[in-house]
Amino acid sequence: MRILITGIAGFIGSNLALRLINGNQKIENHYDVIGIDNLSYGLKENIPEEVTFYQSDIRSKEIYRFFDGVDLVFHLAAKNCINDCQLDPVDTADINITGTVNVFEAARKAGVGKVVYAESSALYEGSNQFPTPESELMPESFYSMSKLSSMYFAKAYQSFYNLKLTALRYFCVYGPVQDYRRTIPPVMSAFIIKLLKNESPIIYGTGKKRRDFIYIDDVNDFHMKCVNDHRTNNKTFNLGSGKYFSVIKIYELISELLGKRIPPIFKPDLPGEAEITLADITEAKKLGWEPKTDIKTGLIKAIEYIKNEMAAGRI
Ligand SMILES: NC(=O)c1ccc[n+]([C@@H]2O[C@H](COP(=O)([O-])OP(=O)(O)OC[C@H]3O[C@@H](n4cnc5c(N)ncnc54)[C@H](O)[C@@H]3O)[C@@H](O)[C@H]2O)c1
Repeated sequence: MRILITGIAGFIGSNLALRLINGNQKIENHYDVIGIDNLSYGLKENIPEEVTFYQSDIRSKEIYRFFDGVDLVFHLAAKNCINDCQLDPVDTADINITGTVNVFEAARKAGVGKVVYAESSALYEGSNQFPTPESELMPESFYSMSKLSSMYFAKAYQSFYNLKLTALRYFCVYGPVQDYRRTIPPVMSAFIIKLLKNESPIIYGTGKKRRDFIYIDDVNDFHMKCVNDHRTNNKTFNLGSGKYFSVIKIYELISELLGKRIPPIFKPDLPGEAEITLADITEAKKLGWEPKTDIKTGLIKAIEYIKNEMAAGRI
């Protein structure tokens, strides 16, 4: 089976590529993995060497030829830091809407069997319903507006061109290879790095915001369902743990695991960020999927990865 991943040099894409390639050791599986990334955020060294990699932009028509003979696409490339998107709505729309439509079009032209693509829990930003089911839609930020537009384009591709699609609404995915280089890194990596450097972590707002964190291996378990289980076709799934932790609690857990006690610095709240995210994961569970990694186990693995990166001089 030939699987193409856009955004392969990023956090979720590179982890997914590894999972698919490791699956090749089983006799019954063989995944030929193709990857596209313009390396604007992701790093080439994240891409497993078994992948056929094209450095290309999802907005370019050049990508069409990479879709020949592809059975399934995971479309993950995006401009995805909410803060960056708030600062540049035009670029956000260009990459996340035009880029996504170009990927759907490439898939349609090549007769690809199915496209699994990334939406986001940000679609629930304005919601007061917790846990939040997939039926809810309350986007507010430019980032979530771009994901909403992708969703509507996906629906049109489904109804006019019969393109099979699966939408994944990731909550806060964490684990090895999480992008810690961006201006405002994801909270867990940011805290781990600061504390390991004996510096104060920065908390934006009061720290009372609560987030549903899901470990990357659990997300990959669901990705494999998207590859193998036709019940995922033309459906939308929340991918979260169904539990939430405040930002302060995450800081405390990491401090405890590292045996450090360095007070955080509080900075003004960031625009466009929801107070609470909590996934209703009933739909994904119906397919026999369940998140397996508890927060401490996940954090220990995330810490181990960052320690290794530091030891190698990459942080
Ligand atoms: N990580 C999360 O917690 C989370 C939560 C909700 C939604 N998502 C969505 O999941 C997807 C993957 O997220 P991630 O955490 O792996 O992000 P990431 O930033 O680590 O990876 C995205 C990749 O896309 C590439 N890219 C960006 N613009 C491109 C372009 N124009 N052409 C080609 N490549 C381009 C980047 O270089 C990067 O490698 C994104 O669509 C994101 O919006 C992620």
